[in-house]
Amino acid sequence: TTSVVISPATLGFASIAKNLNDVVTVPAGYSVTVLTRLGDPITSGAPSYKNDGTDTDFASRIGDHGDALGWYGLSAAGAREDTSSTRGLIVQNHENLNVQYLHPNGPTSPGGIRPEAEAIKEIEAHGVSVTEVVEGANRAWTYVQNSTFNRRITPNTPMILNGPVRGATMLRTPFSTDATAARGTINNCANGHSGWGTNLTCEENWAGYFRRNGDDALRTPREVTGLRRYGVTSSTGSYGWSTVSASDPTDTRFRRWDARATAGGTATTDWRNEPNQFGWVVEIDPYDKSKAPRKRTALGRLGHEGAWLGNLTSGKKVAVYLGDDSRGEYFYKFVSNAAWNPADAQAADRLAIGDKYLDAGTLHVAKFNADGTGVWVPLVFGSVPNRPAQGADAEYVFADQADILVHPRLAGDAVGATRMDRPEWTATNPVTGDIYLTLTNNNASTRPLNGTDAANPRHYNDPKGASNQFGNPNGHILRLRENGGDPAATGFVWDIYLFGADSADANSDVNISGLTASNDFSSPDGLWFSRPTNAAGQVKPLLWIQTDDGAFTDRTNNQMLAALPGTVGDGGTVTITNVGSGGATATQTTRRGTPATDATLKRFLVGPVGCEITGVDTTPDGRALFVGIQHPGENGTAAAPESNWPTTQATGTAPAGTRPRSAVIVITKNDGGVVGL
Ligand code: FEO
Ligand code: CA
Ligand code: CA
Ligand code: CA
Repeated sequence: TTSVVISPATLGFASIAKNLNDVVTVPAGYSVTVLTRLGDPITSGAPSYKNDGTDTDFASRIGDHGDALGWYGLSAAGAREDTSSTRGLIVQNHENLNVQYLHPNGPTSPGGIRPEAEAIKEIEAHGVSVTEVVEGANRAWTYVQNSTFNRRITPNTPMILNGPVRGATMLRTPFSTDATAARGTINNCANGHSGWGTNLTCEENWAGYFRRNGDDALRTPREVTGLRRYGVTSSTGSYGWSTVSASDPTDTRFRRWDARATAGGTATTDWRNEPNQFGWVVEIDPYDKSKAPRKRTALGRLGHEGAWLGNLTSGKKVAVYLGDDSRGEYFYKFVSNAAWNPADAQAADRLAIGDKYLDAGTLHVAKFNADGTGVWVPLVFGSVPNRPAQGADAEYVFADQADILVHPRLAGDAVGATRMDRPEWTATNPVTGDIYLTLTNNNASTRPLNGTDAANPRHYNDPKGASNQFGNPNGHILRLRENGGDPAATGFVWDIYLFGADSADANSDVNISGLTASNDFSSPDGLWFSRPTNAAGQVKPLLWIQTDDGAFTDRTNNQMLAALPGTVGDGGTVTITNVGSGGATATQTTRRGTPATDATLKRFLVGPVGCEITGVDTTPDGRALFVGIQHPGENGTAAAPESNWPTTQATGTAPAGTRPRSAVIVITKNDGGVVGL
């Protein structure tokens, strides 16, 4: 048996400095290998990637904007083997595009019409990839281009609608007139690993892809309220795919993004309901590409960041923690009806196990109290009151449970849930069961000086970026513990584990966690616990923290830190003096974790220019750490790329004009040991 060590403990590497270099920097004694990149072919027939904007066939290549990733082990014989650390599958989300680098001179729109071939590339560069990777001699990791496991899931991939919303009128479209099928997934951000060998991928900023303007008179007021609340408002939709004049008039891959109701039309003749097909958590079986992914509607329709399970305990229900990443949105928990049976972990029909635990249960939303307690409010039809009239929207009367699951934001409004500073990833401490939640940032308009609360306690100014940034620009990491350690608990205790801050800021009301130059950070987003075991057989849960920052990027490129956290409530109460523009002040009392030290929080990695660090997993033995480098050079152009990474990684240089590519890297310790210890 292993003995568990939570703290005290020390991270086994020397922290690296903040920097603005166009490479991935890691501590001394570690090596970086670029494993898969945007455009890398993952079928035997696909040509190699030229990276000059002329490449096609993205349904046979690694997609763009690699986000969350997960490792799924394979045995030497090619079967699922959870303990394998030398052969496995990387399941990676492809959230969005650096569209300027996908075409020879960036995207074109002659006469306001997007060319069909450009739109096909852009659509297929979204979604999810499954790619086999193997470790060779001397920790030489490579991907297997012709593996039969390799798979691309795109916005065009057939899927199944599961759960309580299956068949609901609100989801009927010309593609699925009975609302049992779905077509594809988009803007896949963070993820989750089920306990039964499947991957959960989460649809986040799907609303922006749709065109919906000027059709309110053809809609019911209820529909308009729902669409407004989810931000389906743009005039042409991101990338303007609905403007394509399809060469095949029966091809609806472009028309579907125009969600305007048409005069005389219905739900099954126009695409008014297409936005309701998105915003779900989707379960994928990485080991069986013959199986269509399943949209798990019981988990609600949100701007889903991630879907992380609490620790599984025999005989207890399964909890899934869900961030809704937008300013002022809520934090959710789904609780299964079924109690966990450990025999299900290795079942052959993995998606059937998903049916058991993820299709029937109760969605809850969090309310955080000032005294360090909180409650999960069940979002159940009959107990959720009407949502009061708000702005231009009349009172919203829920029709049934499907209506609540299509509109959890409206239900959260109705029950008075706590508006959060952009809830992003969650992570579960494998030893203590504590749930961690990144709150990446907020601004003055949604977190004003007199609009803080104990769980979102800060309003201050970070003047070091391009301009003054009032609100909570550096973010924080909250954590909670369920009452009685029960995943189904309706009450919990919480504190704020860490506050992001610039260590150069002398204001102790901002740098509440005592960050130093070796561990200061801003805008935490990705979050994950690894489970390394040291030479003494002690499990040391390491918390990995990844940043996606706008407030700190004048000082450093985005980064990843490793942490050895304590437990909820270990730092007591603190009262903060907040300062708004003009010098007005207000106080807010909250609960915090023990301030960080240079031994328990260290900067492990800094990325290249213009990237976000997102996506993290290790092999089970902890010797290979996989990390996603998303959208390097996102602010550049085809003519003048902002970054030349990953070509720069080997020598620090690249030919002028080299286009940047999102990529998965693998980090290994030169002595073959466990990363981070
Ligand atoms: Fe796609 Fe909330 O980050
Ligand atoms: Ca994210
Ligand atoms: Ca983010
Ligand atoms: Ca992103």
